[in-house]
This record gives sequence, C-alpha cells and structure tokens, in this order.
Amino acid sequence: MRKIDDCRRIDLPKVPDERGNLTFIEGSRHVPFEIRRAYWIYDVPGGEFRGGHAYRELEEFIVALSGSFDVEVDDGRERKVIPLNRSYYGLHVPSLIWRRLENFSTNAVCLILASAPYLEQGYIRDHGVFVAEKLK
Ligand code: TYD
Repeated sequence: MRKIDDCRRIDLPKVPDERGNLTFIEGSRHVPFEIRRAYWIYDVPGGEFRGGHAYRELEEFIVALSGSFDVEVDDGRERKVIPLNRSYYGLHVPSLIWRRLENFSTNAVCLILASAPYLEQGYIRDHGVFVAEKLK
C-alpha cells in the first residue's frame, strides 16, 4: 500500500549560470514512469487550492516552475505537507495518494507530468471513498 513516505521530493539537476539558471528533467532518469501528459496550473487566486483528489492508477511528478506552493499528501492514515519553493525540486506522487495543492504564491506556475492521459473515471474525488479503498 502506498504511504506518504513514498511521496519523495528530489533535487533535479541545476546548471547555474550568470545568464540564468537551467534545470532539466529526463524521463527515465528523474521521473519513475513513462510521461504521457503534461499540464500546468497558473493564475491561481490568493487563498485558492487545487487538487483535493486521488488517482486510482495515475502517477504524477510535480514541479513549481515559478513561485511556490505546498503539496499536502495523505495516505488515508497520515498526512504531510511538502513545500515546493525551488524550481529544481520535483515531487513524485504515486497512485492512491490523496493530494491537494495549496498556498500558491503570486505568479506560481505548477507543472505536472502524468503517467496517463486525462480520464475522469481515474479520479477519486470523495475523501471517504478514498479512505475506504485504502483500508480494503
Ligand atoms: P482537475 O484535475 O479536476 O483539477 P482540480 O482537481 O485542481 O480541480 O481538472 C479540472 C478540469 O480540467 C477537469 O474537470 C477537466 C479538465 N482537465 C483536462 O481536460 N485535462 C487535463 O489534463 C486535466 C488535468 C484537467
């Protein structure tokens, strides 16, 4: 069963340069699944949150390209908050972890790499249903 400790923040490579820093992601090296989709969340009004759901099978890799936000992860028993406040942090969130993105800074841009195309049936949007599935 997936636990919150399976949600790992890693340091991506950073190539410092006086002309501006550069960070990159390589599929098989930094992301532990085949990338099938990328999407991004931006223009988040102050105080709003996104997410608040789990995926039955989908895995994600989350990066704060710009600005910062927190990712709250929950395995049905425990929760923790992982701040993403550097452009070179990447967070892997496996399937069957409840996750919520919150505390967005002004101009934050959240890039999410996902292991499958968008599929609404793959979401668990009710926390009670999620906890029941975890306890099965
Ligand atoms: P959703 O993942 O539900 O975001 P949140 O949990 O933060 O509210 O996505 C919001 C809507 O955007 C969803 O109803 C459908 C659409 N959507 C797509 O069409 N493709 C995608 O890849 C994603 C992530 C969302």
